[in-house]
Amino acid sequence: MNWTKEGSKAEVYHDIWCSASNYLDFLEQKTNNLNAVNYMFDRIEPSLGSSLKILDLGCGMSWTSALFKKKFNNKIDSIDLYDGDKIFHKHSRDMFELFNISYENVNFIHGNFNNVGELSTTYDLIIMTSAIHHIYELNSLMIDINKLLHNDGFFLILNENPVGHLKYSWYLIKNYIHDFFLHLFKPEYKLFKQISHCGIKYDPTLGDYYIPERRYKYLFDINHFDYQIIDSGLKQYIELYTDHTLKHILCQKKKF
Ligand SMILES: C[S@@+](CC[C@H](N)C(=O)[O-])C[C@H]1O[C@@H](n2cnc3c(N)ncnc32)[C@H](O)[C@@H]1O
Repeated sequence: MNWTKEGSKAEVYHDIWCSASNYLDFLEQKTNNLNAVNYMFDRIEPSLGSSLKILDLGCGMSWTSALFKKKFNNKIDSIDLYDGDKIFHKHSRDMFELFNISYENVNFIHGNFNNVGELSTTYDLIIMTSAIHHIYELNSLMIDINKLLHNDGFFLILNENPVGHLKYSWYLIKNYIHDFFLHLFKPEYKLFKQISHCGIKYDPTLGDYYIPERRYKYLFDINHFDYQIIDSGLKQYIELYTDHTLKHILCQKKKF
């Protein structure tokens, strides 16, 4: 497979979105994403059973749903926004076929996780793999998750890299300086446009928000979640230099 590399800081691989097999090749050959999720299975396996219902939010091509279905044979709702023409549903079904798993009892839903609180179902496990960093209003999401999750259920954030406070502060300072000078020479350039109202830095190229670890912790606390941050020890890309490792956050509603 020939992946095209483009961009300065970000590595963008264009071919990967064309088919489920391209995407799976990319995940397997270039990243540790699957290994990191498999690492997590061992920790949650004793708590999960096949009767449980799962929600995969921001499922993309649904490889996480496929792994969970293979392991636990659960009912799964898999939601993604990026499916105006239903192509992601096809890719998701193809992904299940690549894993040689039936997609019976799996619903591929075109939906927005910003409005997920509108769902009338409840779940035993809600998963977000490499997806929560696309959320603008993290607190609203936590409120919705609380509503959708059974009392003993789990909310599992997979393959993220919550930014440490010092690094996050450094990002902000760099950004302020960058924006300040741009604004000085180009008055039409809006100051601080990459910082969201809740202080989360936004990367317009990737559509990612950098969520500081302490913001996560604060929001888990005020939304009454117990949480555990688990470091998989695996860096995201196999060959590219990255100074962070893929982390998982396992959350459960507090018992009073
Ligand atoms: C980095 S991809 C990860 C996809 C998949 N979970 C994986 O690990 O391969 C992030 C996914 O979140 C989806 N997404 C972004 N914003 C969303 C929203 N507001 N509602 C639902 N899905 C969204 C994107 O369409 C994309 O498929």
